[in-house]
Formats: sequence, structure tokens, C-alpha cells
Amino acid sequence: MIYAGILAGGKGTRMGNVPMPKQFLLLNEKPIIIHTLEKFILNSKFHKIIIASPKEWIQHTKDLVKKYQLESERIVITEGGTDRNGSIMNIISYIEQTVGLSGDDIIVTHDAVRPFLTHRIIDENIQYGLKNGAVDTVIEAVDTIVVSQDGNYLSNIPVRSEMYQGQTPQTFNIIQLKGYYNSLTENEKEILTDACKIFMLKGDKVKIVRGENFNIKVTTPFDLNVANSILKGSLDK
Ligand code: CTP
Repeated sequence: MIYAGILAGGKGTRMGNVPMPKQFLLLNEKPIIIHTLEKFILNSKFHKIIIASPKEWIQHTKDLVKKYQLESERIVITEGGTDRNGSIMNIISYIEQTVGLSGDDIIVTHDAVRPFLTHRIIDENIQYGLKNGAVDTVIEAVDTIVVSQDGNYLSNIPVRSEMYQGQTPQTFNIIQLKGYYNSLTENEKEILTDACKIFMLKGDKVKIVRGENFNIKVTTPFDLNVANSILKGSLDK
């Protein structure tokens, strides 16, 4: 079966002094997470769309789903984890406990705070996720990417044509991800914050899907302004 995992378990500390985690802030009078959910609910391939929300915001998330009339048997809310991968694993535990897992189940995981993903990106994640253990959504790097290990001096300037920036969705074979994740030490779990990296560490290939420049992650107050402009631009068309 095909599942969507909406990652909304973070606190949004880089957003600064706001009354609620950024996924609940308004973008053109609608919470960011609702914009994101509206994209997923339109895809009938998803058996369930499972949201990981901070424990103290679960009721608020439920209220929003109701208020914006997204209520459906397909949308469920579970508790987020202590980090992003922890939220993915909580969603997988929910699936395991309620439906059970089978070898060809996949999960399309997506940051709740990337509301501008497209139906093409979702479709390609599903298409390639059914054939590969892991899929990452990326865009070509526009700026030259430089590496500095000490934060003072450059240690490397990789070839720009080989550089990409990671976005989401990231799609995984559920049983494979669970097996790999559970085999990591606590130390590895702390370092391997990107689930695709876990697949690479285990020697597995990660298939690329092209993202979009506008598929931004709302992280800072500046991003919120950019997101409002993107939305306004798309409404003006
Ligand atoms: N996320 C999650 N569970 C966590 C941490 C993060 O589901 N324990 C989600 C966030 O809600 C967000 C996405 O992962 O949708 C991307 O993470 P990031 O932008 O880093 O979000 P936060 O952790 O909320 O932000 P910050 O790092 O500024 O605190």
C-alpha cells in the first residue's frame, strides 16, 4: 500500500518568537499544513495520510483538519518523535499497529512546511518509490556550494554541476527503512538526520526526482514572506 507521512512534529525554533509551531502559521489566511494536506488529499493513491504532530498540538491539528473540511477516513494524526526521523518512525509504527506492514508498502514522507509541492512531484515519488528502496526530491544547485569544516576557512569547492539541494518528499520502502533504522547505533541515529543517507550508508541506491525552485521549506520569518509572495503570484495568474 502507499502511504503519505506528513512531518509536522517540529517546534520551528528558527522562526523566532511566534505563538505556535510554524506549520500552523497562516499563509493567505490558511495554515501552512492545510495547504500541504490539500495537495496530498487530491491523490487517491494514498491509503492513509498520516500526520506526525507535537503531542501538545495534536488536538489543534485535529481541529484544523475539521475546520478546513479535510476530514476523511484517510487522514490520521499521531504523535511526533524527538527528531525528524523519530517522527517518520512513529508514523511507521502507527501503520504497523493499525494495518500491518507488507514488503511492497511505501511511504511518501513530506515536510508539512513545504506547501508548494506539485502533483507531478508526488506522482513521480510514488512511481519511483514502487521501484526503488529510496527516492529523494532535489533541485540543481544554482550557487556554487562551498565546504568549510571549521567555519573559518574553505576546505573544498565541489564541482557545481554535481551539486543538488535536497527537498522533500522523500519516499521509502517501509520495511527496508525500518530495518535499516533499527540497525543504527544511537550515535548513528543522531548523525544520520536525513533518512536517504541511511540508505546510502547501507549501500543502497537513492533515485532522484526533480523538485521545483518554489518547493521551499518555510524555516525563517524571511521564508514566510517569500511563501506569501509565491502564493500571491500563483493566485494572480
Ligand atoms: N519535524 C518533525 N518532527 C521533529 C522535527 C521536525 O516532524 N521532531 C518536521 C517539522 O515539523 C518540519 C520538517 O520536519 O515540517 C522540517 O524540519 P525543520 O524545518 O527543521 O523544522 P523544525 O524542527 O520545526 O524547525 P527548527 O529546526 O527551526 O526548530
